[in-house]
Amino acid sequence: MDGRELVRALGSLGTARGWRAARAGWRTRRIDARGLPVRGPERARVPGEVTSAEPRPGGGVVRFTRSELMIRVVVGGAVFWGWDGAEPEPSYALGSAVPGADPRAVLEPDKDGGWQVVSERVTVLVSRHGAVEVRTPGGMVLRRDLPPRWWEPAAGVPAGAAPAGRGPGDGSGGGRPRRPERRWTLRTEVPADARFFGLGGRASGPRLPDGVHQLWNTDPKGPFGPGDDPLYITMPVLLVVSDAGTHLAFHDNSWDGRVTLREGEEGAGSGHDRPGVCETRMEGGPLRCWVIVGKPSRVMSRWARLTGTPAVPPSWALGPHHARWGFGSEAEVRRIVAGYQERGLPLSAVHLDIDHYDGHRVFTVDRERFPALPALAEELRQQGVRLVSIVDPAVKAEQGYAVYDGGSAAGAFVRDWRGREVRGVVWPGWCAYPDFTDPQARRWWGGLYEERLAQGFSGVWHDMNEPVSFAPAGDRTLPRSARHSLEGHGGDHREAHNVYGLAMARAGYEGLRSLRPDERPFLFSRSGWAGMQRYGGTWSGDVATGWPGLRASLSLVLGLGLCGVPYSGPDIGGFDGSPSAELYLRWFQLGAYLPLFRTHAAIHAGRREPWEFGPEVLQATRALLAERERLRPYWVTLAHLARLTGAPYVRPLWWGAPDDRLLRECGDAFLLGDALLVAPVLEPGVERRAVRLPRGRWYDTATGRAYDGPGQVMVEAPAARIPVLARAGSVVPVRGADGRLELEVWTPVGGRRGGGLVVPDAGDGWERPEVERYTVRLTDGGVRVRQVRAEGSGRPLRPVRVRP
Ligand code: GLC
Repeated sequence: MDGRELVRALGSLGTARGWRAARAGWRTRRIDARGLPVRGPERARVPGEVTSAEPRPGGGVVRFTRSELMIRVVVGGAVFWGWDGAEPEPSYALGSAVPGADPRAVLEPDKDGGWQVVSERVTVLVSRHGAVEVRTPGGMVLRRDLPPRWWEPAAGVPAGAAPAGRGPGDGSGGGRPRRPERRWTLRTEVPADARFFGLGGRASGPRLPDGVHQLWNTDPKGPFGPGDDPLYITMPVLLVVSDAGTHLAFHDNSWDGRVTLREGEEGAGSGHDRPGVCETRMEGGPLRCWVIVGKPSRVMSRWARLTGTPAVPPSWALGPHHARWGFGSEAEVRRIVAGYQERGLPLSAVHLDIDHYDGHRVFTVDRERFPALPALAEELRQQGVRLVSIVDPAVKAEQGYAVYDGGSAAGAFVRDWRGREVRGVVWPGWCAYPDFTDPQARRWWGGLYEERLAQGFSGVWHDMNEPVSFAPAGDRTLPRSARHSLEGHGGDHREAHNVYGLAMARAGYEGLRSLRPDERPFLFSRSGWAGMQRYGGTWSGDVATGWPGLRASLSLVLGLGLCGVPYSGPDIGGFDGSPSAELYLRWFQLGAYLPLFRTHAAIHAGRREPWEFGPEVLQATRALLAERERLRPYWVTLAHLARLTGAPYVRPLWWGAPDDRLLRECGDAFLLGDALLVAPVLEPGVERRAVRLPRGRWYDTATGRAYDGPGQVMVEAPAARIPVLARAGSVVPVRGADGRLELEVWTPVGGRRGGGLVVPDAGDGWERPEVERYTVRLTDGGVRVRQVRAEGSGRPLRPVRVRP
């Protein structure tokens, strides 16, 4: 415990919740002391020498003296490899349709006594001792994994043995596990110029810094800044970008682990390159990996094909949201909404936090302060404002409370190794935790959303689902020995922890879908794991108010997008304290160009309404809100394109040019779709800022001034303006003055073609709108826009406005 933690721990003892939390922490340690397997003497094991190989569809199996490695290239080009019997499934990350083996990929001996699998897009070489190298078809090395190393009990575990924690006495039914899991380490070398991205939502990035990144979803105990790692969403997903190519590597393993990164150095020591290194260490679970190679857009599309396409939020969820921990009553909600309306500020949704619950109990309403929630919801809906509800997973352990009684009767709560319900402390006091890794518990939980719909809520906001149990120090979660169903296989919290939020999202999403089949659910979740995009998005969590927090907000959104989770955004203004007017406005500007556009703050934080910061801020936010609404058709398009192509709405500047090394270093600006480049101000006192441009011509959307990339330019960024540039030749669908969709076309450079895709809004149901395709050209007669149709291209049916 560091000094800060100690002070906080002692301080918390002054409250009833603090005492409970101290007891919960103590109980967790006591349960784990007896419930976790004891590690005896261990010894390291490596695969040994290659002995034989056997071709199979998509690749084959290579056998070593002590291990075996299965390689399979699947249709679409992703490569799977797994050691010692590890198969792609079961997996929490993969979507419903895992692509089949690519029959054209074949296993053959290589000239050095190893084996190789050659496929159309990638070659995998396996050395005699089990090193695995991934190369492009042109022979460029993208990564080289050295032979893995396992630690296992000195008595020895036969190669290919099933991992511990399975079978009688090891499953969810209780009992102490028989033997510890095999830990493993894998050291990977990448080109010296490679940069690392991903690993879930990291505050420091998007280019990940050297050092250790833990893989354990964590509530950072209060507002966090760029130095806090890990946070709520960790994922063993790494995107590696180098001159040789881009690839994504995913270790499909939900156990606790750590990834240590060290960027390489060109011409280090006597002129030789020092490769970049990524060392992955896992505390258990299978050693299996997916690798996808190609351009960033292709990598992300294959990743979405593998792990499921991102849920498309309803259109209203792409508008402005206002949340607040501490909305004390219906009257206060009305006052806020009226405040927006009176000032001509558009608003799409208001979020109710835990204060509207009865005694912080999930799926209840405080009838004194919120006596007629359904009527309030209906009234707001008439005004175009939806209500969104927070949903916490922890259920107050109190007999007579219907949710607890129902969960208990259904056997839905997590138990410890003795078979007793695990208790933790959250807002309502002592709580039980649904085991979302149990399909039956998910069904039970999903049914509870009926109450939320009956209250008039249009969407849900999952929180505290790392899951959190308050403790003054140490890990604020369930005991690692707590038992989980894990889809019937049985196991403990060490394996279930990181997928808890993901499985909760599944429960909520499936519940909402079956309760209200005609509308797409709107769900976002604080915690999650690879594949969570199938059910919805996420948000920054409790980002600290301050300039570093503003920067962290962007890093999180970009990093998550590259892990396949495209819908997210920060608490505008930061979670705690009171931002200065300048900071608030800069945050609002950034938020207006991120998918989830929401102000939110803690109960004791200062106000966050746009009118609380003076007339200039109010005027500037009004313009931002109006622009967000004008761009709504573009947001709808981006949401559908994320579903169709896996491309995140918010992309790093190197998206289309991963070989531009200078762009790879840029974390302070981003692309919004193909058309816009957004360069937020992330520092105080700035009126102009440098922007590094990708190739092509870019227009400042405020002044119309043209800049030519690649290169760095200075753009004006006075307090009221966030620099947004538009790519020459792009087509941006916008809402015209009459509310109809219009095409805003940015003049292309002579001799170059432009164009774009538009996906019209087809409502909040499941209808799949048709994608419209436009081409743009500069001719003698001016800018010519054509719509490409099956029967040939023609004039667009939509109004066109050429800019600048
Ligand atoms: C957590 C959430 C925050 C919420 C609070 C109370 O700190 O991250 O958004 O307001 O809990 O529910």
